[in-house]
Amino acid sequence: MTVSKPDLYRDLTEQLRALLAGEADRIANAANMAALIYHGLPDLNWAGFYFRQGPELVLGPFQGKPACVRIPLGKGVCGTAASRAATVLVPNVREFPGHIACHPNSRSELVLPLLPVFAGIAGEVLGVLDLDSPLLARFDAMDQAGCEQLAALFVDHHHQYPG
Ligand code: SME
Repeated sequence: MTVSKPDLYRDLTEQLRALLAGEADRIANAANMAALIYHGLPDLNWAGFYFRQGPELVLGPFQGKPACVRIPLGKGVCGTAASRAATVLVPNVREFPGHIACHPNSRSELVLPLLPVFAGIAGEVLGVLDLDSPLLARFDAMDQAGCEQLAALFVDHHHQYPG
């Protein structure tokens, strides 16, 4: 029997909590998180981070093939999610104007902003978590909710342990 999406995300959340526990290094934690997601979710061809540096996003730890290193804020799916400070779910990348085709076989994408929230007030976007799939419409609202929870865990952890 295949595991349900809510169960899968509950399991990934617990595994991420365990991986982050007591570790302050942001690069090490991002690397483990990218590996957890890439190997834990089916049908991905890329999973990883871009971190904001001034007016652009710069490639961080990831799993998958080599990718574009710098993405201006507002450009592509990643730059759009970062500049809107909102998740962008793209069922078909060919229908997203300005999509940056790092990988010709990517068909759908889910990009989550890394958004610190203190006392209900959102701070500046730290970067994005980008998931790509070779399947059309791979991601749905359950994936969005599950991945937003994973991203929030990472951001909250690094609020406690800056670095
Ligand atoms: N397709 C993304 C660029 C990043 S790669 O897919 C890893 C975009 O349009 O922002």
